[in-house]
Amino acid sequence: MLDQLNTIEAEALAALAAAETTAALEAWRVAHLGRNAPLMAVLGDLGKLDKAARPAIGQRGNEVKRALEAAYAEHAEARRAAEMEAALRTGALDVTLPGRPRALGRLHPATQTLRQIYSIFADMGFQIYRSREVESDEYNFELLNMPPHHPARDMWDTFYTTTPNVILRTHTSPGQVHAMREFCPEPIRVILPGMCYRYEQITARSDIQFYQVEGLAVGRNVTFSDLKGTLSDFARRMFGQQVRTRFRADHFPFTEPSAEMDVECFVCDGRGCAVCKHSGWLEILGCGMVHPNVLRNGGYDPTVFSGFAFGMGPQRITMLQHRVEDIRYFFQNDLRFLEQF
Ligand code: DAH
Repeated sequence: MLDQLNTIEAEALAALAAAETTAALEAWRVAHLGRNAPLMAVLGDLGKLDKAARPAIGQRGNEVKRALEAAYAEHAEARRAAEMEAALRTGALDVTLPGRPRALGRLHPATQTLRQIYSIFADMGFQIYRSREVESDEYNFELLNMPPHHPARDMWDTFYTTTPNVILRTHTSPGQVHAMREFCPEPIRVILPGMCYRYEQITARSDIQFYQVEGLAVGRNVTFSDLKGTLSDFARRMFGQQVRTRFRADHFPFTEPSAEMDVECFVCDGRGCAVCKHSGWLEILGCGMVHPNVLRNGGYDPTVFSGFAFGMGPQRITMLQHRVEDIRYFFQNDLRFLEQF
């Protein structure tokens, strides 16, 4: 019996020395100190022994048990320390390394152009007026002097909703009437930026959604000279002090007279190039004196008040300035495009 206990002890200690992982250590504990361990069998069978042999075997058995427990505790502690040491070594932080630079975002090219336009008009005393993107047929067309039969509506096919006469605005011009109805009879100087929608075939030059910036000034004695002065000044601040502008007669139902403003091509300085299609001029915006019917719809008496309005596509301006060839880049979220600005 004593021999058997000595063998159990020797074998257990040898196995412990070979247990190198936490899992092996746990397996050892179960095998040598667990309920089914050989040592436990010997201790459990003490009662079957001779009375005389019992004390010596019992004492030796308990000695072996304590020895194994102590060896296990020591080994487990050493194992934990070694693992901690290894973890510290492999996960070591080199605090002298430079930090990782954080990639800063930037403003979308369309936003950059919009903000430039806002600040130029803010300097001239124009407030930003936010108008809704979901409009009624009345505001988008009728109050802008386009009754249901009007052929000009063909230019602005739109998205209809399931609610009759509720549409996505095709231009920012309906905001003119909202602003007039809010501010009447005070004078007005606002710009109305925002998204517009048209039901169109998507091409490099046209998308179904795009930004516009509308402008509106209403007051007593507002004249076409004010329109020309304001917009020429805008062009100089936007494209450079030397830039020339020209106004060509045009037609819009909501202005009379109406015009288009061109700026001298800033790519070739007016000499003619592919960007300006060899004309030397770039078409930038539509404008005109607010039509008396529109003034009246806004609540202003056209015999007392007059006003001018304009509308431009800021994305088109960004495209011209940076020679972006496809308007679809603006909403594709391709970082290779966006990171260039
Ligand atoms: N609403 C026009 C469009 O979408 C642009 C425009 C032209 C706006 C003349 C105006 C204006 O305010 O006076 O094409």
